[in-house]
Amino acid sequence: MEKPDEKTIEKLLNCAREARENAYAPYSGFKVGAALLTDKGEIFKGCNVENVSFGATNCAERTALFSAVAAGNRSFTAIAIAAGDETILPCGICRQALSEFSPQLCVICAKKDGYKIYSLSELLPHAFDKFTPEEKN
Ligand code: THU
Repeated sequence: MEKPDEKTIEKLLNCAREARENAYAPYSGFKVGAALLTDKGEIFKGCNVENVSFGATNCAERTALFSAVAAGNRSFTAIAIAAGDETILPCGICRQALSEFSPQLCVICAKKDGYKIYSLSELLPHAFDKFTPEEKN
């Protein structure tokens, strides 16, 4: 895992907090924002988007990931996640989704004063990766 410099970390945390403001969470009331840094230095934001059919809900991390992939990106350096004063860690589905592209991703979890850092491989050891298509697009 390559940890971004402090300035970049601060920028990612601010972007995650900004993205959180757009969270659509009328059912849980739990707003989350994420900011994903590509290997080219671009930042993609995401928020959780809930649904009356609860299973259709999308987490902030996957919203950011899917938006970045839709824009042509395949490799990521870090993700910042903000959910208010307390640190939260990405859910299992988001860990697996992020691991598809960047298993060594740096995961930066915001808290009231500062942040905590993990590597994705530490959060998702022994990830499923045994399906190897002949060609990965
Ligand atoms: N949520 C996220 O957006 N990211 C996480 O890492 C954990 C959970 C959302 C899903 C749902 O809208 C709300 O938080 C409560 O679970």
